[in-house]
Amino acid sequence: MNQNEFLESLVCPVSGTALRISEDRKTLVSEDGTTYEVGETGIVNMLYPKELLPEDAREQYLYDQAVLRYDQGVSWVFQTLNHSDEAATRKFFIDLMELKPGMTALEVGAGTGKDSALILDRIKPGGTAVLSDLSPNMLKRAQEKLSTDEANVHYFLGNGSYLPFADNTFDAVFHFGGINTFSERKRAFDELARVVKPGGKVVVGDESVAPWLRNTPTYTTLLKANPLFRAEVPIEDVPLNIEDFKLHYVFGNAFYVMEFRVTANPPEVDVDLLMPGKDFVDNWRIRAEKAE
Ligand SMILES: C[S@@+](CC[C@H](N)C(=O)[O-])C[C@H]1O[C@@H](n2cnc3c(N)ncnc32)[C@H](O)[C@@H]1O
Repeated sequence: MNQNEFLESLVCPVSGTALRISEDRKTLVSEDGTTYEVGETGIVNMLYPKELLPEDAREQYLYDQAVLRYDQGVSWVFQTLNHSDEAATRKFFIDLMELKPGMTALEVGAGTGKDSALILDRIKPGGTAVLSDLSPNMLKRAQEKLSTDEANVHYFLGNGSYLPFADNTFDAVFHFGGINTFSERKRAFDELARVVKPGGKVVVGDESVAPWLRNTPTYTTLLKANPLFRAEVPIEDVPLNIEDFKLHYVFGNAFYVMEFRVTANPPEVDVDLLMPGKDFVDNWRIRAEKAE
């Protein structure tokens, strides 16, 4: 997908309707007149809402300020967590996406591009990676660092809870490190699944110390020092139309990463299927009556 095709693939992040590209190709305009700027450096500003909700605005500010310290800081965090091997763990994340050369992948909250480089390696030659983040400074840093040899790379500033793509656009989607604090986290999970083709993978991770470790001395210290680690795994936000769900704990069991495959429809229970015999019927009835 070249830059023109990328611009043409963008839709209104809230209504999903087509955008008109201005004659000078510097602006995308939605049906209701909202404009989205195509930046000089090729980073398209698809942020929605234009005035971010307070928690998203705060995260955007914090990451914009932290960009120069980010790479070193985050590697230090993983070192503290049982001296984890950051490179091997990030490779494990990207393996879960099941990418192949020529595929089209989306990363939400790409930050400075630590995982994006691995995504690019997997989709080469000929694939397309679309990288996005809420923070302009983080995404600029990713753009400076990443090589675009043998793959198409496109960037947009975006809120993971409002993705500017039609349904079923990508072969796989990845997010690591921010979703626990997204203001509209459930909406983000639904969006990640919506833009993936049925059969494609969604891989999502963030902080959450495994329950069995929370009362041990060093993890108690961690939870006090950084409340982000107190987050619960947001299993209740997982979309309905998925299968093959797996949950992994990584980085000293202080982060989760979940993987699932998108399906065309949600699963259903066949409540009309005849029960295999009277014993079975009686057994279920007794249990159901007891539970009332
Ligand atoms: C901890 S960093 C992780 C960056 C990168 N994925 C990594 O693993 O190094 C979290 C990233 O999520 C981005 N972010 C926070 N809220 C977001 C949102 N609502 N939509 C998209 N990105 C968001 C931040 O700007 C930041 O770059």
